Amino acid sequence: MIASKKTSHTTLMSTPVATPLTQLPAWKALLQHQEHMREFDMNQAFAEEPARFDEFSLRANGLLLDYSKNRINAETMSLLVKLARDAGVQDMRAAMFAGDPINFTEHRAVLHTALRNPDQASLAVDGKNVMPLIRDVQDHMRRFTNAIHTGEWRGYTGHSITEIVNIGIGGSDLGPAMVSMALRPYAHAGVQVHFVSNIDPSHLANTISSLNPETTLFIIASKTFTTLETLANARAARDWVLAHLHDTAAVARHFVALSTNTQGVQDFGIDPNNMFEFWDWVGGRYSLWSAIGLSIALAVGWDNFEALLNGAHAMDTHFQDAPLEQNMPVVMALLGVWYNNFWDADTYAVFPYDQRLALMPAFLQQLDMESNGKSVTRANRPVDYKTGPIMWGAPGTNGQHAFFELLHQGTQFVPADFLIAVENSMPLADQHEWLIANCLAQTEALLVGKTQAVAQAELIAQGLPLTEAEVLAPHKVFEGNRPSNTLLYQRLDPRTLGMLIALYEHKVFVQGVIWQINSFDQWGVELGKQLALPIRQALEPDADPGQHDSSTLGLIAEIRRHR
Ligand code: F6P
Repeated sequence: MIASKKTSHTTLMSTPVATPLTQLPAWKALLQHQEHMREFDMNQAFAEEPARFDEFSLRANGLLLDYSKNRINAETMSLLVKLARDAGVQDMRAAMFAGDPINFTEHRAVLHTALRNPDQASLAVDGKNVMPLIRDVQDHMRRFTNAIHTGEWRGYTGHSITEIVNIGIGGSDLGPAMVSMALRPYAHAGVQVHFVSNIDPSHLANTISSLNPETTLFIIASKTFTTLETLANARAARDWVLAHLHDTAAVARHFVALSTNTQGVQDFGIDPNNMFEFWDWVGGRYSLWSAIGLSIALAVGWDNFEALLNGAHAMDTHFQDAPLEQNMPVVMALLGVWYNNFWDADTYAVFPYDQRLALMPAFLQQLDMESNGKSVTRANRPVDYKTGPIMWGAPGTNGQHAFFELLHQGTQFVPADFLIAVENSMPLADQHEWLIANCLAQTEALLVGKTQAVAQAELIAQGLPLTEAEVLAPHKVFEGNRPSNTLLYQRLDPRTLGMLIALYEHKVFVQGVIWQINSFDQWGVELGKQLALPIRQALEPDADPGQHDSSTLGLIAEIRRHR
């Protein structure tokens, strides 16, 4: 099956939206409820409710979500759960897992969950059981991974492969890159995995500058096998290999492809036997569980890749089975909707206090913003409410020394998730204890803040005269009452990572259902790609610059002048 980014002209069937979101009784009730909650003081709530942590925390498969530091009470949660119910979250969830074409603008099922289901024997898409196809590709991936690791697979000159370069972009890069970095303690000795995504030639050039083509394998990862950046980098990599090995037969030993587009792979010159297939019902940003995960398996071994899949499956099971009020992705999604739509928050942040998750914010950015950055409903009408927020983040504690000032004292309202492991797999002295202490201290500081009176008293206790303390104290005020979630896990192992990623995937899904949008297409990225072609032509020295606005024409002329 070829994944085209164009849709066909057969009838588009969206999942019906019975009632516009803002007409749902729960939505109206939440609007009213927010009026009562405007002055809600979380600190007072903690003082009055000794069981607040127990009431507003959830456990699933070894993960703890503490969501007690939020501007919520029992009524908030019950109204939000009612909203999820009335918005049809349960039906859409069942439709997704059953393989219904819920990505209706592309006529596609959404079945990344099937890729990580070890038990399911049959699941029909367009009348065809896809489970045997999944198992065949997984088997191929496992055999290939073992062949590289044992040295059975050799490069063209007979050397074993020690360097792997994954060339892909977006979903064909961010997930595998993030996971490979996160699982570094599980890395298979003897192979190094690199990731090249940008069409900026320095990305590939820097990566291969220290590599030997005789021991390097390129993985060309592209769902469509039409993506400009990936194909340009793949061609440059092939030229580099051929410049050293002087025989087109070398391509078969140094290039494999991960794609849905067999023809495109063949046209590029990669042997279809070296192609690992996936299918159009795997969205790009949901594809790390598919053949796109080959670089992960090569980085950490097949068993660890399988543990990652199993962790995600455990979260899928929780998402399907847990009642909405105890359902971790649902609760996280609802809190996001609460702040996005009822408190007017424009952004939300994720701070993994885990250096190995440094790439997680970038991965979540695509997951969240490409999925829910939409403004037309499933009923084909413009939305009249906010959909997906701006998602951002960085690892703690680094963020504390960069932008946390704004979180504590700025005028923006930024709900945030903090992620922290109980144990570090790379302990050094007591550094992990400090990491935990900082993570908890930040969420506590966001909650409790500091009043002017306290700030002033502290200054006086430090020996400042009253007149100076009065001037300085307002600058030391922290408003407090700022919300956060904490996700706590034992250690960042493959299974836990799988759970965390699936948690965010389902959170994004639930929000998309509530906002009545299609979270699985991405038409918004197409226009820029279309416009790049005539601009590329206009950059040629004697070319007609074409029809553009005067800014674009001015920039093209300036660039041409400086050539
Ligand atoms: O342009 C956006 C996008 O289509 C993403 O959705 C996708 O993950 C990325 O490009 C890469 O696409 P492909 O895997 O087809 O090269």
